[in-house]
Amino acid sequence: MSEIKKRLSSIIESPAHNTEVKLQKICQLLDQEISYFNWTGFYFKNGDKEELILGPYVGAPTDHTIIPYGKGICGQVALSNETFVVPDVHEQDNYLSCSIDTKAEIVVPIMKDGVNIGQIDIDSHKINPFTDEDREMLEWLCDEVAKIM
Ligand code: SME
Repeated sequence: MSEIKKRLSSIIESPAHNTEVKLQKICQLLDQEISYFNWTGFYFKNGDKEELILGPYVGAPTDHTIIPYGKGICGQVALSNETFVVPDVHEQDNYLSCSIDTKAEIVVPIMKDGVNIGQIDIDSHKINPFTDEDREMLEWLCDEVAKIM
């Protein structure tokens, strides 16, 4: 297991913190360790509504604290149940801008018992920064997070 996965696992398995704190620590770790992760946060399904609500995050405050299903990259992933890698956000029509500095984005769904309960969203100030290894690590992370939700 990679060093970063080991550190993420120890946060997820820690008996000392509740889920909210664990999610915040996950964001902090990813933000610190990966230089091109410039906004890292979680969104979750907002109760029975067809919308996402912002959870723990690290980065600039965003206007998009509620995102209707289907809107933006996040809203599309809420419906597709699949990872969405955007190498260049300027090429996307259905995109919600959080910051003029953001150039790329990756959103990975959190699936629990076959149901899409939320996602991790990462913005980068670099064009096309995300590697296959990042994607694999984030998909692994979302599977691990699902277990504590
Ligand atoms: N860019 C996202 C909105 C969320 S912010 O990046 C934090 C989107 O298009 O869904």
